[in-house]
Amino acid sequence: MTSIVRPRETFADPRLSGRAVKRIAFDEAAIAKRVSELGKEITGAYPDGDLLVLGLLKGSFIFLSDLVRQITRPLQVDFLVAASYGDGMVSSGTVNLVYDPETELEGKDILLVEDIVDSGRTLNRLMSILKERNPRSLEICALLHKRIAAGLKYDARFVGFDAPNEFLVGYGLDHAENFRHLPYIASLQ
Ligand code: IMP
Ligand code: MG
Repeated sequence: MTSIVRPRETFADPRLSGRAVKRIAFDEAAIAKRVSELGKEITGAYPDGDLLVLGLLKGSFIFLSDLVRQITRPLQVDFLVAASYGDGMVSSGTVNLVYDPETELEGKDILLVEDIVDSGRTLNRLMSILKERNPRSLEICALLHKRIAAGLKYDARFVGFDAPNEFLVGYGLDHAENFRHLPYIASLQ
């Protein structure tokens, strides 16, 4: 009878379809604690005005749903989908908006919610597009920030965690559309 031997440092989870993750970078408790802190920070930063929380799909969907429940003031939620086209490996820097929110942006306080800032190209392009809609204010909240982007025109005002420069999955982040449903954030082997 054969048995599967897993290296001791890998982590077994039935959600991973046999694939090992190298390590858990942020576990459920750490994420919940930080999201709650972010909610308080954001609540305090918007004492008045019409707050519109704009989630960038798909990566922000879990973060956004947890975050808005920690913001204790009136708000509205909408979503955007951005697609960047390149050779498939490296971002070309060209970002297109493939879904426009129906919600009016003019005069509102817009909080753009993103899963992770890597090169920052997606956000920078999106911010330029959104600015043209004349919001009252426009800020970014990113769950993770790799802090490797150089010369960012717009940076995140609210950041969950500084992230290691590794490929991370879970809590909304994917690899080829897999692993978004992990309740923790892990580094792929
Ligand atoms: P940027 O335009 O290079 O900042 O790319 C940001 C987008 O790339 C994010 O919204 C993610 O969808 C994706 N991304 C960047 N780094 C990672 C990672 O470590 N894991 C999963 N997706 C990532
Ligand atoms: Mg992705």
